[in-house]
Amino acid sequence: MLKKIPVDQVRLGMHLHALEGAWIDHPFWKSKFVIRDREDLAKLHASGLSGVWIDVTKGLDVAEVKEALPTLRRGVAASDGDVVVVADPVQAAAAACPSVVPLPAASKPVRAPSRMSATATSVPVAAVPPPAPTRSLQDELSQAAAVCKQGRSKVVSMFAEARMGKAVDAEQCLPLVEEISDSVFRNPGALVSLARLKTQDDYSYMHSVAVCALMVSLGRELGLSSEECREAGMAGLLHDLGKAAMPLDVLNKPGKLTDDEFAIMKTHPERGHEMLQEGTAVTEAALEVCLHHHEKMDGSGYPHRQSADQISLLARMGAVCDVYDAITSNRPYKAGWDPAESIARMASWNGHFDPAIFKSFVKSLGIYPTGSLVRLQSGKLAVVVEQNPQSLVAPLVKAFFSTKSQMPLPPQLMDLSRTADKIIGRENPETWGFKHLDELWAGDAAPARR
Ligand code: C2E
Ligand code: SIN
Ligand code: SIN
Ligand code: FE
Repeated sequence: MLKKIPVDQVRLGMHLHALEGAWIDHPFWKSKFVIRDREDLAKLHASGLSGVWIDVTKGLDVAEVKEALPTLRRGVAASDGDVVVVADPVQAAAAACPSVVPLPAASKPVRAPSRMSATATSVPVAAVPPPAPTRSLQDELSQAAAVCKQGRSKVVSMFAEARMGKAVDAEQCLPLVEEISDSVFRNPGALVSLARLKTQDDYSYMHSVAVCALMVSLGRELGLSSEECREAGMAGLLHDLGKAAMPLDVLNKPGKLTDDEFAIMKTHPERGHEMLQEGTAVTEAALEVCLHHHEKMDGSGYPHRQSADQISLLARMGAVCDVYDAITSNRPYKAGWDPAESIARMASWNGHFDPAIFKSFVKSLGIYPTGSLVRLQSGKLAVVVEQNPQSLVAPLVKAFFSTKSQMPLPPQLMDLSRTADKIIGRENPETWGFKHLDELWAGDAAPARR
């Protein structure tokens, strides 16, 4: 389990996992090791870094705090298990994410009394609520669309080069990761929602862009610093690089894989990890997410069948972001599910995801993410246009169809936090045969679908 502690509390015997406030370019950067050397320790103490991540499963913990301050030890990596799966998974998600989101207990800023600052404090990762968006989703869409397009072509060439055996240079991806990260910080929904819209031919490429954006958005929700969010984003961008080493007929097979084919596919995390190890400027975070994004909390994942306490925070984040984008996307073997439907299904799966991480993921995206089709109490069908930061169940929607008359309505924007109407459930767009829902929330930024 990872824990963030102030630099001055680092002691010999702790396993250093990552440095806070360092973006690749730090002498310690490549290192993930148990500190045994006093000189290293002194360098670290003198480094001026604000904090470090230690892995308490691989090295010493901050022992005093364990006894003295149990509440301060509750980081996000410790599953508090309160995403309860009840009959309706959306209700469960709603229960886990109160509709009017006053800061839930776990995300109240927790500050140690100052006299404690010399002793250890492990600040919960989600100690700080995410910064408010500086732009509306609608205003961010056109820039996000441009970043998507640029991201797609960058990933196309990265995959092509990887296929030809050329080593990856992660530094070349930095500008893209920064653009994605900046967009997500301006508004977390815009790029994330646009990157979901992809054709099956685009899947492998846009999936990388989407998981990058989702990782940044989740990191932001978890209270990670902007450097850590970029770190997580870079890891998302590179997580499936191993797919470039998969036979194309298996990767793009339009139907279900045979056992043998699936066995081949299951080598992609290790193949990707090898490719990244041979690359330049590749961070530990990227190596970790690439190798372990298919591990599951119940120990049934691959390649290492890691148990819950072995799975890193980054890999837990990667698993959630990867699966969400996979199931909401059109892929060679399956059409994407509606976003709200996908959230509900993921909430019902036991043993795959870390419940605490999943809960934060839902808070960052919404119970009815942008683009979801919903039915209102009035009988209107509407598409979700933008989240309401105050309430996960009262987003901005565009109503466009009357189930009473079975006729389209002139599209009408409704802020459900200011009207009497409300969402009574999600609807399956396929059942209704709607094919142009994306234009309703994304307008011109929606990519042309083939
Ligand atoms: P992917 O398509 O990117 O999917 C990533 C992960 O999302 C999957 O990992 C799985 O955990 C989750 N996922 C995707 N679709 C579904 C779904 O319909 N139901 C559920 N419950 N989970 C889903 P997984 O299963 O280890 O697969 C790894 C990769 O293997 C997939 O990446 C895909 O490239 C390939 N693959 C898996 N099954 C098939 C298949 O039936 N046909 C084809 N052509 N490829 C497949
Ligand atoms: C999963 O846990 O990833 C899949 C479970 C399911 O499809 O029911
Ligand atoms: C609309 O009626 O405006 C959109 C319907 C569709 O998505 O096809
Ligand atoms: Fe994968």
